[in-house]
Amino acid sequence: MKIVEVQNLKYKYPDTDKLVLNDISFTLEKGEFIGLIGRNTAGKSTLCFSLAGLVPHFFKGAYGGKVLIEDIEVRHVEIEDIITKVGLVFENPFSQMTGSKYTVYEEIAFGLENMGLERAEMTKRIEESLELLDIVEIKDQFPFGLSGGQMQRVAIASVIAMRPDILILDEPTSQLDPQGSEEVFKVVEGLTKEGITIIMAEQKIEKIAEYADKVLLLDDGKLVDFNTPEYIFSREDLMEHGVEAPTITRIAKRLGITNKNTGLYPIRFEQFPADSLVTKNE
Ligand SMILES: Nc1ncnc2c1ncn2[C@@H]1O[C@H](COP(=O)(O)OP(=O)(O)OP(=O)(O)O)[C@@H](O)[C@H]1O
Ligand SMILES: [Mg+2]
Repeated sequence: MKIVEVQNLKYKYPDTDKLVLNDISFTLEKGEFIGLIGRNTAGKSTLCFSLAGLVPHFFKGAYGGKVLIEDIEVRHVEIEDIITKVGLVFENPFSQMTGSKYTVYEEIAFGLENMGLERAEMTKRIEESLELLDIVEIKDQFPFGLSGGQMQRVAIASVIAMRPDILILDEPTSQLDPQGSEEVFKVVEGLTKEGITIIMAEQKIEKIAEYADKVLLLDDGKLVDFNTPEYIFSREDLMEHGVEAPTITRIAKRLGITNKNTGLYPIRFEQFPADSLVTKNE
């Protein structure tokens, strides 16, 4: 089922000359995990903002084309109507915390109170989110006393409690150590099993290779490619777009080892070496 449709999206921040998003079109299916990659300033965050409605509702500027979430055009509805459908998690979990709550539980409750939900419904949603993000044990702790990975899970829980159909994460693991990153990827992957559609901007290519169903490659505001991670990371011109392939793919490229069925390079260690691989030069 199609859940997101972007048609010829163009966008320029106010008082600038450059199109930061330059004629972007793609569609997303419900429950997919999409990795959004590209060099610094490629436009990843701006695309996240456009899907969440911050562009053009908060960031003004010149806007063309369409972003449709569940067939509703983002530009033509109030931001309040988008927030219930699309949740956005920022890079730094600190910035997502209210800063005024003493427990993780209250932190998650905050967004729901603003939605004006009844107490029973709130309690149900908070408990579900705590379970889903595996943070039940820390529900009475002070949010700013948590580890980075825990804090990011709380940030995701507070967004998930609002029951968005689509969750957008803009480099959610950049502030985290490897263990914290792994925690975040694991829980996010779990959310796709709940039918939630995930769009994650991320620099950690190995993780994208491990978790994403599809990868969207941006460069200089343009959509270079939108395809399976195997296909994207097999591109010979990846470096020219400022992105490095996973280590295993780079080794395979150097050795000329591809999957004999698809002709693509392996992207995960368990795909290499395997019977299905062939050396090109043989
Ligand atoms: N508020 C703003 N006003 C004007 N220009 C902006 C604004 N925010 C971002 N830009 C510009 O838009 C372009 C795209 O930026 P964006 O943050 O979307 O890229 P990104 O791919 O997320 O980069 P990074 O990997 O550094 O997070 C950059 O050239 C940036 O300088
Ligand atoms: Mg960014």
